[in-house]
Amino acid sequence: MTTARTNRVFRLRKRPEGLAEEAPLDLVREEVGPLADGQALVRTLMLSVDPSSRVFMSDIRSDLPPVGIGEVMRGLGVGQVVDSRRADLPVGAHVLGWTGWQDYRIADDAVLEEPFAVLPDPLPAPPEDLLGVLGLTGITAWLAVEIADLRPGDTLVVSAAGGAVGSIAGQLAKERGARVVGVAGGADKCRYVVEELGFDACVDRRAPDWRERFDEATPDGIDADVENAGGEILDHVLTRINVGARLALCGMIADYSADPAQRHGLRNLVEMLEQRAFARGFLVTDHVDRYEEITAQLAARIADGRLKHSRVVVDGLENAPSALERIFRGDGRGKIVVRVAADDS
Ligand SMILES: NC(=O)c1ccc[n+]([C@@H]2O[C@H](COP(=O)([O-])OP(=O)(O)OC[C@H]3O[C@@H](n4cnc5c(N)ncnc54)[C@H](OP(=O)(O)O)[C@@H]3O)[C@@H](O)[C@H]2O)c1
Repeated sequence: MTTARTNRVFRLRKRPEGLAEEAPLDLVREEVGPLADGQALVRTLMLSVDPSSRVFMSDIRSDLPPVGIGEVMRGLGVGQVVDSRRADLPVGAHVLGWTGWQDYRIADDAVLEEPFAVLPDPLPAPPEDLLGVLGLTGITAWLAVEIADLRPGDTLVVSAAGGAVGSIAGQLAKERGARVVGVAGGADKCRYVVEELGFDACVDRRAPDWRERFDEATPDGIDADVENAGGEILDHVLTRINVGARLALCGMIADYSADPAQRHGLRNLVEMLEQRAFARGFLVTDHVDRYEEITAQLAARIADGRLKHSRVVVDGLENAPSALERIFRGDGRGKIVVRVAADDS
C-alpha cells in the first residue's frame, strides 16, 4: 500500500506591486492523490530561483504566460521519480523540468510535452550545477558572449558580474582575449569578481560616484556589453560605446517591476545611432538545439579549471521566496538554488 503524501505548494496569492514587495505566495499543504495509468510522481530535489520568477508573477508581456492567481508558482527544478505508472519514468529516475515551487508534481503526457528531460544515471553533475553553470545559466552566458562577438583587445562590460550568468560570461570573454569590466553591487562582490573570477576591473554600482568610476574603468570606451541589469546601468553604458559596439541584451533585472510605468527609460539611446551599434535581445530557450554542444564546452572548462563558479544552496522549500528576494537584493555570489529534498538514490 502506498502511503499518502503531503505536497507543500507555493500558490500565487495576488500580483506583486513593485519590486520591493515580498513575493505574494501562500504555502499550502495538499494531499497527493493516487496515480492514474500514464502518470508518475516526481519529487522536487533542487529548485532554481531566477530573476524571471518575479516576472512570472506579474501580468506583463513575457515569453511565457503569467502564473495565474491561485496557481502553483512556476519554477525549474531537478526531481526524482518516487512513484510511477509509466515505463518511461521509472522510480528513481532523475528529471529536469518545470517542477514548480512544490514538493511533488504529477508527470503525465502533457508534462512530457513541456521542457522536460530524463537525466542520465548517474547524474553527470550535482543538481545545483545542472540548474546553474551546466544548465540554462551557463548556456545563457555562452550565448551572450557569442552575441558580443569579441575580438582580442575589445573592452566588454558585464553587469550583475558576480551573479550566475555574469560570472560565467566574464570568464568566457576573458578566454577570447577581451578586457572585461564587471559591474556588481558592493565592494566585496567587486573584489570577488576581480580577484577570484579574473575580471580586469569591477565597478561597484552602489558607490555614489559609480558613473565616474565606470568611466575610469573604460578608458578606451566599450566595444561590447553583456547586459543583465538594464536601467541606469545600461543607460550609462550607452554613453561609453564605441563605433560598431555589440550589446547582448540578456536581462533587465532593474526593470522586472510588475508595473511597466515604473520602468527606467533610456536617455542615451541616441548613442546607438551615432555609434552605429547593434543590440540583440535573446532567450536561451530559443536555442535548445545547442544545449548539448554548449554544455559540453562548459563542462570541459570546469573539468580543467578554466571556469570557476559559485553557488548558494538555500535549504528548504519554505525558503524559496526569501532566496528570490536575495537575488533582487544582490545578496549572493553565482547561482542561488533551493534544496527541497535529499536524493534517495
Ligand atoms: N536571456 C535569457 O535567456 C536569460 C536566461 C537567464 C537569465 N537571464 C537574465 O540574466 C540576468 C542575470 O540572471 P541570473 O540568474 O544570473 O541572476 P544573478 O545575476 O545571479 O542575480 C541577479 C543580480 O542582479 C543584480 N541586481 C539586482 N537588482 C538590480 C537592479 N535593480 N539594478 C541592477 N542590478 C541589479 C544583483 O547583483 P549586484 O547587486 O551584484 O549588481 C543580483 O545579484 C537577469 O536579468 C536574468 O533575467 C536571461
